[in-house]
Amino acid sequence: MSNSPVRPKDRFLVFGAPAIEDAEIQEVVATLKSGWLGTGPKVSEFEKRFTAYKGGHLAAAVNSCTAALHLSLLASGVGPGDEVITTALTFCATVNAIIHAGATPVLADVDPATMNIDPEEVEKKITPRTRALLPVHFAGRPCEMDALMDIARRHRLKVIEDCAHAIETEYHGQKAGTFGDFGCFSFYVTKNIVTGEGGMVLAKREEDIARVKVLGLHGMSKDAWKRFGDEGYKHYQVVECGFKYNMMDLQAAIGMHQLERIESYWRRRREIWEYYNRKLAGLPVTLPNDPAVDTRHAYHLYTILIDEEKAGISRDAFLDAMTTHNIGVGVHYLSIPEHPYYRDRFGWKPEEFPQAQRIGRSTVSLPLSAKLTDEDVADVVSAIERLLDG
Ligand SMILES: Cc1ncc(COP(=O)(O)O)c(C=O)c1O
Repeated sequence: MSNSPVRPKDRFLVFGAPAIEDAEIQEVVATLKSGWLGTGPKVSEFEKRFTAYKGGHLAAAVNSCTAALHLSLLASGVGPGDEVITTALTFCATVNAIIHAGATPVLADVDPATMNIDPEEVEKKITPRTRALLPVHFAGRPCEMDALMDIARRHRLKVIEDCAHAIETEYHGQKAGTFGDFGCFSFYVTKNIVTGEGGMVLAKREEDIARVKVLGLHGMSKDAWKRFGDEGYKHYQVVECGFKYNMMDLQAAIGMHQLERIESYWRRRREIWEYYNRKLAGLPVTLPNDPAVDTRHAYHLYTILIDEEKAGISRDAFLDAMTTHNIGVGVHYLSIPEHPYYRDRFGWKPEEFPQAQRIGRSTVSLPLSAKLTDEDVADVVSAIERLLDG
């Protein structure tokens, strides 16, 4: 067998590269020429269209999902002395947002079949100080929302859903981000639709979304972004100490057009997911479980598990070898307690969360983006076949 890489270096397959098309390029150019780059009418339009896609909740666009989570926690009334339960298998932003809100994060282990927070583990972590649950719909697979919402009702907890992977996700016919008090979305460059950096908060109650909007722009009173508009200068009042988390029209210009293609992108990712399932079925790696009945998976991440004893290669050697074949791969995620900051601050040990620890040490995310061609995904499979054939 040839020792040359599956792909040449100048065609390195960038992990999570977004599909950017002409419509958003034209809209960005028009926005640049308009003279209004900041938060304005395009952000309002993007919020309106996102709301329509998600079926009628209220929306506030912000500059990241991290900001969305932070603002949602603050608007939930979460603060010092409160505990917020989240998953041990997530991106650091989920946990950092809880810390930024002044609260204490409490981790629960995941269900190995779904890699989502396990409701039974959540139940064990409830204390009189628990104020909110922060489930993450990992990889785009919905959490067990019936069980989690039942826990939240019984213990009077706020629920903030981290939907960074889950714009298209549904659970029992209901869309992710509409179960809890708040749903938080990401349009970061690797996400299902992108604005570069960007995020969205979804909420049911007018007062909640109003609070998010005020806190997201310095604590200025409503619609302060209009102050330089064509209706004449408007005074604003600062009503609390807020943050600079607003989305720009430049970002919304991209998002508006990406949103038009959200379903065709989803169908393409599902096709790639099914292709990987077929092609990798006989290999000594663990593939993701099929989506559960009566759910809709967003197909954000395709994660395989590499068990060195079965595969004959360690996870980290596999990551390096894929890179040598000029294929970008990801790790989602090393479990939260593997990171020194959290271990030092909260005394967590990875082995206290055995499922998240095992997954975090063996997982590899393969490229899964609407931009990928048939040839790209065939290259991914060829590289894996070569590595596992020894
Ligand atoms: C699960 C999860 N939560 C939150 C975030 C933060 O999103 P953003 O980069 O938009 O702040 C990410 C981003 O990668 C994520 O994967």
